[in-house]
Amino acid sequence: MPVVSLKEILDRAFAQRYGVAAINVVNDLTLEAVLAAAVEQRSPVIIQTSVKTVRSIGADLLFAMWRELTAGIEVPVSLHLDHCPDREVISSCLRKGWNSVLFDGSRLPVEENLRQTIEVVAEARSYGAHVEGEIEAITGVEDDIGSDEEAKRQSLPVALDFIRKTGIDVFAPAIGNAHGVYRAEPRLDAQRVSDIVAAEHIPIALHGGTGMTDAQFSDLIERGCAKVNISTALKIAYMKSNLAFLRGAEERDTWDPPSLFTAVRAAVKDMAAEHMSRFGSVGKAW
Ligand code: 13P
Repeated sequence: MPVVSLKEILDRAFAQRYGVAAINVVNDLTLEAVLAAAVEQRSPVIIQTSVKTVRSIGADLLFAMWRELTAGIEVPVSLHLDHCPDREVISSCLRKGWNSVLFDGSRLPVEENLRQTIEVVAEARSYGAHVEGEIEAITGVEDDIGSDEEAKRQSLPVALDFIRKTGIDVFAPAIGNAHGVYRAEPRLDAQRVSDIVAAEHIPIALHGGTGMTDAQFSDLIERGCAKVNISTALKIAYMKSNLAFLRGAEERDTWDPPSLFTAVRAAVKDMAAEHMSRFGSVGKAW
């Protein structure tokens, strides 16, 4: 099963109540390592790119890497643009072939966010692509986007009205989750997920996955969080494995880049596989 739409991956996960890891990659090595974990675990996976990664590598090269690395892949995979307030970047990724986008209009007044999200959904549909939407900023700065101040949560009727009128495919509510490292175990409003799912039957995207407990994951996935975002855990695995290897290289006074890549790839692949297992998606490839 090659590259598929976000909707195809999430509809199955939502119906069967498992979570699909949506992992932010930062370069070719991390992209390859996360895909390798999915193949090894027979798990679907969503690869995410932040706007920062799109800008640093360039949409053309990033998409060429994606195409090459997923050619002939045997598990369902999908390419998603994470938190993007910039309509031009959305358009250029959709044009290139990204399968889905998160239009992040959370800093806009709800009415304007709604108006623009409707436009993004229409644009995405013309490419056969799908859209994640949000009305409140998720706390924390992720690749230069967002704020550490907790945003005001909208009422349930406002959230439901947004979902209905925009026709988005997946919704990302704020439930006390945050991007980055949690200082203490987060207190999550799981009931909000159940209330939205009961009213609209839409898959929910759980942001700020790094640092949540197994109990929190299984409870939220059971309630309808079919997409589980992981970014900080990859950054930590990537940077710490680089650091550990380079410290050893300095001690040994041996400087062999391919050995560094092998060590870092293994650390990133293990991190991805561990999350797939925690979200119940292992063996769910079709
Ligand atoms: P973490 O960085 O906390 O894993 O959150 C990732 C995320 O939600 C990306 O949108």
